[in-house]
Amino acid sequence: MGSKKPLRRHEALKPLSRQHHFGLLFSWKLRKGFAESISIDRLKAFADWFFIHETQPHFKIEEEYIFPILGTGHALIIRALKEHRRIERLFRDIENPKNSLSLLEEELEAHIRFEERLLFTEIQKAATKEELREIEKIHFGTGSKEDYPDPFWGKN
Ligand SMILES: [Fe+2]
Ligand SMILES: [Fe+2]
Repeated sequence: MGSKKPLRRHEALKPLSRQHHFGLLFSWKLRKGFAESISIDRLKAFADWFFIHETQPHFKIEEEYIFPILGTGHALIIRALKEHRRIERLFRDIENPKNSLSLLEEELEAHIRFEERLLFTEIQKAATKEELREIEKIHFGTGSKEDYPDPFWGKN
């Protein structure tokens, strides 16, 4: 009694979880860039690239197909949408990119951990078979498969 096994990630949500992994790597790369005093221009260029190729399409899919499963009035969805808008603002900030990128590194990681630990688990419990089938039909872009031409974080 009482010992619930953690839910395995449903097949339909795995591509998004894989993108979360790329997001965590992005934060790690920024952190490494800061630690090694890589110029803000280079970090900002990388963040701009990642935003267009990964973050924007990822948010779009979550907002169109995933979040409606719980509904916009659900506390976890209200939080997720608020974090999306905040993260977009940090990506777009050109006034003080140094500050924004260092916040972004932390906040994107926190957002991903929140989705993986709480939000996706709830989504998966609430989703109907039909909803999961619809998610399985989503076409995912290939952004993450392209190499970024300036790997300042080093090769390994
Ligand atoms: Fe998200
Ligand atoms: Fe996400």
